[in-house]
Amino acid sequence: MQNLVAVEGVKKTIFGVGAINQILSECLSLGASRALLVVDRALAQSEIGTSVENLFRNSPVQVIPYYEVTPEPSPDLADSGAETAKRENADCVIGIGGGSTMDVAKAIAVLCKNEGKILDYVGLDLVKRPGLPTIMVPTTAGTGSEATFTSVFTMKETKTKGGVNSPFLYPHTAILDPALTLGLPADITASTGMDALTHAIESFTSLQAHFMSEPLSLKAIEIISAHLRGAVFGGSDILFRTSMLKASYLAGMGLAMSGVGAVHALAYPLGAFFDVPHGLANALLLPYVLEYNYPGDIEKFAHIARAMGENSKGLSKRDTAALTVKAVRNLSRDINIPQKLMDLKIPEDSIPEMAEAAMKLKRPLMNNPRPVTAGVAEDIYHKAFEGM
Ligand SMILES: [Fe+2]
Repeated sequence: MQNLVAVEGVKKTIFGVGAINQILSECLSLGASRALLVVDRALAQSEIGTSVENLFRNSPVQVIPYYEVTPEPSPDLADSGAETAKRENADCVIGIGGGSTMDVAKAIAVLCKNEGKILDYVGLDLVKRPGLPTIMVPTTAGTGSEATFTSVFTMKETKTKGGVNSPFLYPHTAILDPALTLGLPADITASTGMDALTHAIESFTSLQAHFMSEPLSLKAIEIISAHLRGAVFGGSDILFRTSMLKASYLAGMGLAMSGVGAVHALAYPLGAFFDVPHGLANALLLPYVLEYNYPGDIEKFAHIARAMGENSKGLSKRDTAALTVKAVRNLSRDINIPQKLMDLKIPEDSIPEMAEAAMKLKRPLMNNPRPVTAGVAEDIYHKAFEGM
């Protein structure tokens, strides 16, 4: 029997080459006149940064710059961004960048209308009221933050990661312009693309998956399997970039509806302890977790293998499901994702501590199609360490 299904989401999505040119009219339709622009320094100085500033030049909307975002952001970036926004009377927040930037921008927007600091809201449904309206513009095809109600922060002192999860974090508008992803280097294209694949697979096989999320997740798997190699090796081809941006958005919506699983739970400690970027941590762990997971839902993993283009003719459902691991491993190797924790210089003796930290991530673990204990987590880390 299906649990109750309640779906919320982004209010407006604008997709297509050149969509970024709609950003001013979107601000105006929100009634905004002072927009906090959240980006990182590199983006601010890039062609994208300059062209966005030009779009607002001599317009009725004044841009208030907040260019302080760093990767795997700490909570104080949201706190200080909110101080700037309040001091400057911002009435809307724009985030342009990867997942870190959009997570910070979403958090700033709610802090403008809710007391305290962002750490007060780490958890589920703790944000009391809507924030400023937001416009999110991804420049990578992977994190899906433009589609979700989550902002993730890294707490360096306690070596933990925590998410603020609230429907008030859903962006008002997502502007998806594939042209903005054309300049992404091959390695970032590869790791963020694998993050999107992880969202798609984990949301599809989540115990919370349902009739609305499943088609989105499965379609994302199909598109990523067909086009991620092209986006990595032919990064200037707008068709590959368009496909990947579509897929990461679909996967983000699947994730927002049904959650992620053990790959994300095990990946978080890699980021919190050793600064491994989120996409890379997921990409490396994905085949090892799938190896463990597929017997937990043969039916769904058989669907995934077929969506990834594996030939299931004459095979049992179980053997078809197992092909998912092979398909993901082949994709990961083809696009030069590191295959072992050893390659990232992660010390093997940190495994018990990482497993303990992963077990604290109850929400993704509860969604996982097969139960994960601390022993299982250690076992997966060991296999990933040696590349078995
Ligand atoms: Fe992710």
